[in-house]
Amino acid sequence: MRVLHLLINGDRVTVAAPEHWTLLEVLRYELGLTGSKQGCDKGDCGACTVLVDGKPVLACLTLAALCEERAVTTIEGLLPAHVKSGGSGPDPVQAAFDECGALQCGFCQPGMMLSARALLDRNACPTRTEIQDALAGNLCRCTGYTQIVEAVELAVAKHCGVAPRRPGSARPRGRSRPPPRRA
Ligand code: FES
Ligand code: FES
Repeated sequence: MRVLHLLINGDRVTVAAPEHWTLLEVLRYELGLTGSKQGCDKGDCGACTVLVDGKPVLACLTLAALCEERAVTTIEGLLPAHVKSGGSGPDPVQAAFDECGALQCGFCQPGMMLSARALLDRNACPTRTEIQDALAGNLCRCTGYTQIVEAVELAVAKHCGVAPRRPGSARPRGRSRPPPRRA
């Protein structure tokens, strides 16, 4: 066992866990922070995404021991962090996902939102391409990504004071467009 000193969602936490445990295991099984999802557990799906020192990391591939004294943000910490910084209610990313109906089963949502939050923290007014790139490591089995990209665009539009795109207009990169009409 190893005693770890972590900074989780702004709180100092001391926890004892097996040396080989990942950050995801510590979050879910020692601290009860089950918002970070255990999907593939091998770095493929992004469902376990959390922020470490403000950068998105895959918690299933990150040794907890490497997070000593580092700031970890999970989905549970997003709303409190927003309120602490002077906002009211949920983080704008969370509000936009809600407004756009950008979920079905919700399994991918915590990781998606944290990837989006990290993007907006480093680039407040990203382009659609930059949003798609930032979310490229987060897989969603349900939504087809359209509402997810639109949700982030809505958060951007509200923050940057530009008109949001027409709903349903976000098309994920790499997906084929409808064939042109024949004359
Ligand atoms: S659970 Fe970590 S990438 Fe899938
Ligand atoms: S809403 Fe189900 S995996 Fe994304």
